[in-house]
Amino acid sequence: MESSQWWREGIIYQIYPRSFKDSNGDGLGDLPGIIEKLDYLLSLGVDALWLSPFYPTPDKDFGYDVSDHCAVDPRFGTLADFDRLVAEAHRRGLRILLDMVMNHTSDQHPWFQEARSSRTSPKRDWYIWRDRPNNWQAAFGGRTWTYDPQTGQYYLHLFTPAQPDVNWRNPAVRQAQLDVFRFWLERGVDGFRLDVFNAYFKHPDLPDNPPQFGLRGFDRQRHIYDMDQPEMMPLLNELRALLDSYPERYAVGETYLATLDKVVSYCGPDKLHAAFSFDFTSAALFYPWNPAWILKKILARERIFEAAGVWPTTVLSNHDLPRAASRYCRGEDDSQARIALTLLLTLRGTPFLYYGEEIGLRDLPLKRHEILDPPGQKYWPIYKGRDGCRGPMQWDDSPQAGFSQAQPWLKVHPDYPRRNVAAQESDPASLLNFTRRLIALRREYPALRRGAFVPLSAPAGVLAYLRRTEAQTVFVALNFSRREVRAPLPEGEWQTLLPEGASPAGALGPQQILLACKV
Ligand code: GLC
Repeated sequence: MESSQWWREGIIYQIYPRSFKDSNGDGLGDLPGIIEKLDYLLSLGVDALWLSPFYPTPDKDFGYDVSDHCAVDPRFGTLADFDRLVAEAHRRGLRILLDMVMNHTSDQHPWFQEARSSRTSPKRDWYIWRDRPNNWQAAFGGRTWTYDPQTGQYYLHLFTPAQPDVNWRNPAVRQAQLDVFRFWLERGVDGFRLDVFNAYFKHPDLPDNPPQFGLRGFDRQRHIYDMDQPEMMPLLNELRALLDSYPERYAVGETYLATLDKVVSYCGPDKLHAAFSFDFTSAALFYPWNPAWILKKILARERIFEAAGVWPTTVLSNHDLPRAASRYCRGEDDSQARIALTLLLTLRGTPFLYYGEEIGLRDLPLKRHEILDPPGQKYWPIYKGRDGCRGPMQWDDSPQAGFSQAQPWLKVHPDYPRRNVAAQESDPASLLNFTRRLIALRREYPALRRGAFVPLSAPAGVLAYLRRTEAQTVFVALNFSRREVRAPLPEGEWQTLLPEGASPAGALGPQQILLACKV
């Protein structure tokens, strides 16, 4: 896709590099491993790859604690590997997006080392220091403040104490951070995913957050002073101008504690291209995974995004959430994963596909001693952390699922002898081939990429809608239920697209999906 709007119609595939493919037998995935798998990604039909962090890191938050923003951690490869990855991806028409963790650094970052060396250090003000803490709570538990005995002050961190927040209000910090974006733009990257961007600025006076009802300390306050400050807008304008000084670059923000109004406020022609709204990710966790609830969420986002002229994103899985297939499927049955993938790939918005989602990868079953993720260690068993969704990719049925020659950093899911890419490649009825088919349809039918979303009335248990441009109408029906239901197509003549070759009938089998195009 050549157009400057590639990110609207394209599909973005998220890779968690340490779990994708290990090329050198150290149990950790790496950049050369990703290069090995580019042809697989091309065969899926995705347009861009978002790489979770591969920068040098002490791994206190598995890469989201960065100790050098302009380098590759030697465990993941070298800058030369990175350049080769960009070149090889571009040769195949795949774009590369980087994960920019700019709210905080690692406490091992030279900036912080220097800042904490003395109160008069020239970099002291690059972080946020106070003599006394306010009431803010950290997202991963405990206070946002940690005492530094050497200099006798507290520093601020919204996540773990190993992730001090930088002071974006300091002009030198702002400059240094924008230089990091420039560094990667110059290396040819096509865009960025901004980690917790809406927390960059804190209220300058650091007032206490007001209380609200919630389970953990962090949830028990309204986050009105530790994020979403007005200073974010001019920064986004500046960042966008920087991106626009290169052709066809893109930025999507991870909106922390997203509400739809908040999300659209950060997007626009002089702000971010897009920001995550995570509309469906709480289904089957806190809300029912059913058509009525999903339709309500779709309509709310359609209304707000449409009115704001902002293009939505659709996410069902990522490295912070239980995988969609684990949330929606019973046992090994992939029927609900098919429904989820159809939703992901036929709603209006940019789909984000998380590695392994195309083969229905399930969360790892982990025991307490196997938990590595800091919030999981802290809150077990109420919250088991995010290791489950970060397991090694399952390539084939060889030892370690073809991911590595060595014991991987997280164990391989025990279902790998049956659930793997190679097995699904050769099975025409597999989830992988179903995903490929859906992606191919999305590429073939402009209505699925850019058509309006038109809800249809449908029997209980069914979600039915049209995607419609002036020239084309595609009908989508998803039977979430385990019963056969009547779901007649709207008036007119229809050609069935999925299942292939089926005649457009008035009934949908249990958990069946129907896509048809008006002729
Ligand atoms: C974002 C990331 C998450 C990380 C946190 C702190 O929410 O998605 O994985 O732990 O930021 O960087």
